[in-house]
Formats: sequence, structure tokens, C-alpha cells
Amino acid sequence: MARQIFVTTALPYANGPFHIGHIMEYIQADIWVRFQRMQGHTLHFVGADDAHGAPIMLKAEEQGIPPQELVRRIAADRPRYLTGFHLSFDHWYTTDSAENTELSQEIYRRLQAAGLIYQKRVEQFYDPVKGMFLPDRYIKGECPSCHSKDQYGDACEVCSSVYAPTDLIEPYSTLSGARPELRSSEHFFFRLSDPQCVAFLAAWLDAPGRLQVQVVNKAREWLTGQGEQRLGDWDISRDAPYFGIPIPDAPGKYFYVWLDAPVGYLAALKSYFDSGQARARGEPRSFAEFLAAPDTEQIHFIGKDIIYFHTLFWPAMLRFAGPPFRVPDHVYVHGFINVSGEKMSKSRGTGISPLRYLELGMNAEWLRYYLAAKLNASVEDLDFNPEDFLARINSDLVGKYVNIASRAANFISRHFGGRLRYAEEESLRAQAGQLAARVAELYAGREFARAMREVMAEADRINQQFDARQPWLLAKEPARHGELQEVCSRALYGFKLLTVLLAPVLPQVAARAARELFGHPADFTWADAAQLPRSVGPYRHLLQRVEARQLEALLSGEPDRTAAPAPPAGTPTPATLSIDEFRRVDLRVARILSAEAAAGSDKLLRLTVDLGSEQRTIFAGIKGVYDPAALVGRLTVVVANLAPRKMKFGTSEGMVLAASGAGAGLYLLEPDAGAQPGMRIS
Ligand code: MSP
Ligand code: ZN
Repeated sequence: MARQIFVTTALPYANGPFHIGHIMEYIQADIWVRFQRMQGHTLHFVGADDAHGAPIMLKAEEQGIPPQELVRRIAADRPRYLTGFHLSFDHWYTTDSAENTELSQEIYRRLQAAGLIYQKRVEQFYDPVKGMFLPDRYIKGECPSCHSKDQYGDACEVCSSVYAPTDLIEPYSTLSGARPELRSSEHFFFRLSDPQCVAFLAAWLDAPGRLQVQVVNKAREWLTGQGEQRLGDWDISRDAPYFGIPIPDAPGKYFYVWLDAPVGYLAALKSYFDSGQARARGEPRSFAEFLAAPDTEQIHFIGKDIIYFHTLFWPAMLRFAGPPFRVPDHVYVHGFINVSGEKMSKSRGTGISPLRYLELGMNAEWLRYYLAAKLNASVEDLDFNPEDFLARINSDLVGKYVNIASRAANFISRHFGGRLRYAEEESLRAQAGQLAARVAELYAGREFARAMREVMAEADRINQQFDARQPWLLAKEPARHGELQEVCSRALYGFKLLTVLLAPVLPQVAARAARELFGHPADFTWADAAQLPRSVGPYRHLLQRVEARQLEALLSGEPDRTAAPAPPAGTPTPATLSIDEFRRVDLRVARILSAEAAAGSDKLLRLTVDLGSEQRTIFAGIKGVYDPAALVGRLTVVVANLAPRKMKFGTSEGMVLAASGAGAGLYLLEPDAGAQPGMRIS
């Protein structure tokens, strides 16, 4: 029976661009979604920006724009990533929407009617200069145990002791520097400690197969734990000023962002239904009918840091709000991605920038395959390792899989006009069916790494069988061409089988192979694994190899000047720029004060430049092009508001502009005589 599945990924905060952790989560969910679609199930895959909360409000204020404008700018950038990495969301929305306001307030009213909401006065730090209550992360002070200065309000980074913000010595607001005062105000609470809530959650967590074992254990600890650890009632309100959804009948009170964020899943689904997109996908029911129906499923993919919200608060909210709201059928939790064994930093400039990945012309399907080869159904972290990446793409994906097609198809085109012929169709089909069933089970259980191992083991078998028959010798003996045709046909069916099995991971390669090689009018479905192709078209190159230089450029942040490979088909070209966007680029005239080779780099010069009001260090990929001594004193143009980029040589605080073309030359920009350091270029 076809399943009807509503799938989401966690809603990213709308205060910055996607980082590699987000993209990893989306790729994991997308592979699963595409696999289920290939099985004939109907999936409604939605995402949205998490727009509300104090950090976004404060960041917008810092930039002198309304929070809605900050969120709009971030949202405008999302499609580049979503299409760039072939993420097949049906709809992308925002929590700052009419649907979310309506649904959040509705759920709140129902919880209130169920007697699960109460009010209580709470004492909290207040910034008298800023005129607002301070979230803990904006309070710093001296550690009460080791007396280190400038420690956060919850724990000391020096001695690791844990305390409350009120324990800090000489606390100060990081927003204004003012000394925060304790003030009290009325807060709203969700009574999670209510016995009916606790009983419901205990049963919900226990449902067999609903959650990963590690996740159940963690959540159960919180539910039944002792003391501090124990699940308490949940403070769901924040005082104005706050960027959020107003609490009904409570002037000046807003929902805490974590209340309306998961409701955003439903708001996105509602907007997708109400705009007719679900109908276009063959779903005739309304949003409420779909949600309430017993045959639909609701599944959330999330990271391990937000288990608490998704396995305790969220199911309880939904359960006690009642129909049409339904509790999640599954919450699938993944670990974090680290880069070369190091924790990824959220601030830009370190880790792997997904946008830079695309801009370097790196193929999105390489990353999809690499992550698939590492992902499993556990909550463990995984590591992005460049050598491993190179080996898996070049040796496995290109060397084993793609190679089968290029070798076998050439013989078939040259000698047999593209026609295929098999000796034992039934046994081939039976073997393929067994493998497809095993791999299907692994995909369904999110054991992607094991699925990739099965696929590559099969690729090895196909290559070995092919080589053992020495087709290059058979080709020289016309009398043995029957054998040659049979050997190549079997290899090409093998290639088709592998392509079907890899299609959730490599949607673009699979679509091209289906059309160009196998003349298949539509994308492959899982059932195509059992269909022996009867002919093939001429082979056209399907996938490039990765070059070490590309990975170096990705990880070091050094400019990749040596050759800009033509972006593979499907990589989005930059969209047109609005004048507002252009104005955000702060271009300045700068004078080069000093220039020297960056030790350990064969491309970079370390420049010190004068920007009028300040001096900066900039690493420029112009070593060998310019004599450092000849640069000193020259004027040039720099991007002054580029996020600092940490490199192994130091931090680069901007970018020098230079022109280059297909040839080797590189030409530094220089303003006309009379320009002064610090002048703005527009
Ligand atoms: N806005 C909340 C989620 C609300 S869901 C109703 C949030 N946003 S987030 O932008 O910080 O994180 C979004 C997702 O990215 C989360 O699932 C989080 O676990 C995931 N990741 C953040 N960093 C990650 C890695 N380094 N690796 C993998 N996933 C990571 O939390
Ligand atoms: Zn300390």
C-alpha cells in the first residue's frame, strides 16, 4: 500500500546562511525521501526558516533593519543551496507567517482549555539600558569558582563549573555593558509535569520502532530523572520587545521561539496545501483532513542537539491540542558533522562553506555520495575528511561505478549498433532482485553507508566478471562477437541496476543515464531494477573526478586560481544582483603597505593594507604573479566587509580584487590617480 508521508527537516534559524551541518541534514532526509518516492509512496517534504527569537531581533537591530527584512534577505539566498544540492523539498516557508500565527495561537488556546497553561512570576536579569530582559547568552561576568573574567551566564569555559547567571560576579550585559538588574514579570508555563503529560510521553517514547534506542534512553532520562535533570514545566513566554507571535489576551507577551518553531512544520504544510501544490501532487484532501487521517505519517529529521524539544515538548503540545493535530510517527536523529576531526565552527570562515563548494564548481553529487557513504541510523557524529572524500569519489564512484558504463557501452555502440543480448535473463533478474531488496531495506532504515557498501561490492563483482572475460580480446575475434555482446550486455544491465540503487543519492547522474544511455523516458523507479535494457545509446561522460586542488581550495579558503573548471550542468550560475545587494559589498580603495610570501603557501602573499581608518592583513593568491617588493605603495581595491577567513597561515581580513581570464595572467585592480585609501567604491 502506498504510504502518505509528511517529512520535515529542522527549521534553520534565519540569522545566517546554511552551513555544512544544515546541508548534511537535508541530504540525509532528501535521500530517504527520494528513495521512498521511488518505491511509489507519496511524500510531502517541507522546510521553513525559523524566523523568530531574540538573536534575530538583535542582529537585525544591529544592521539597522527590521527583523522581517533580515529574514527576507536570508530567505532570498536559500534556493541557491536547495537547487544546488538537488534537495527535493516540495515547499520552503517561514515561521513568521499568518499560518504559523494562527496555528500557534490555536494550539495554545487548546492547551489552555485543557488546563495545561498557568502563569507565574519569574525573576530574571533585565538590561536597564537596552530596556529588555536578557537571555542567558547575553550575560557575562566573573566565574564564581575560578574568577576568570568574561564567562557566560551558565558555565565557565575555563574551569567548566556550572552555575546560574545570578551567581556571576560583576555581571554585565553583552548588549550594552550595563549591569543587569533582577526584575520580575509574569510568565506563562506549559504544565509538562502534569501526570497525564508524563504518562502520555512515557507511552509515546516506548512505542516500538518510533525512535532510535539512544534517543529513547536520553528522553526517558529527562522524563523520569532526578533533581535538575528532571523535566519541569516549560516557560513558553517572553516579554516585549521580542520578535515573535503574540500570546492571545496577554498584551506585551510573546511565545518563546521554541513554541512556534515546530508549529512552523505545520504552517509550512498548510501553506503548501492551501496554495494547491499538494493537490497538484495528487493529494485531494485539505490540510486538516490530511493531518487527521489515520493513514498519513509525520516524520521529522533533526540533529542530536534538539532531541529535547522534539521528543518531549512537541509531542505533548500536539497530543493535548487534539485533532486534527497528530503526534509525530518518527523523529529521526542524526549526529554532527565535523571537519577533519574538528568541531565545525558556526561562525563563517571555518569548516566547509556549502556555497563555496558550489562556487568552486564542485559537484553536489560528490558530497551527496560521500555523506551517504558515511551516514547510518545512529546518533554518532561523522567526519568530513578530504583524503577520504577524494578516494571515495575517484576510486569508488568514478573508478568502479561510472567506469562500467564507459567501458561496456563503447563496445556495444561500436560493434552492435547499441543492441543488447543476454544469455540467462531469469537468473540475472533474480540476482538483481535480491540485491535491490537488500538495499531497499537499508535505505528504509537510513543505513545508507551499508547500502553504499552493497552497491560498491556489486560494482566490484561486475568489473571482475567483465575483466575475466577479456572483452578487448573478444573484440579482435569476429567469431567471438556473440560472447562479447553478451559480456557487455550483462555489464550494462549491472550498471543500470547500480544506477537505480544509487538514484536516491545521485539523482542527476541517474536521470541522465536513464535518458541518454537507456532511452528511458522518465526517472527510474525502484521497479526498473528488474527490467533488462534492450539497447543503449552512445556513452557520454557522466561524472568528473575530484581534484585534490579543489579540496584544498575548499578547506583552506585559498583562492583557486589555477583553473576554474567549467561548472557541471546543473550548478546554478549566480542570479542577478539587486542594487541593494550590491550596496552590501563594501569596496574600498586601499594602499599596500607591505607584501611578503606567506610561509608554507605556494600561492599566497601576505599583504598589509591601509584602509584609511585602519590597517588590515589580507592573503592574496598572487604569489609568483607579482614581485612583493613592487607592490608596496600601490593602491588597489579590496572588499572590506568580507567575513574574516581563517587560514592555516593566519586570518585574512578582506579580499584584494584582481582580473583573470582563461589564460594564466592575473591583474590587480588599481584606481585612477587621486584616489585615497578608505574611499568607498560604488
Ligand atoms: N531553529 C532550530 C530548530 C527548530 S526546529 C522546529 C535550530 N536551528 S539550527 O539552525 O541551529 O539547526 C538546524 C539543524 O541543523 C538542527 O537539526 C541541527 O542539529 C542541525 N545542525 C547544526 N549543526 C550541525 C552539524 N555540525 N552537523 C549536523 N547537523 C547540525 O536548531
Ligand atoms: Zn571558572
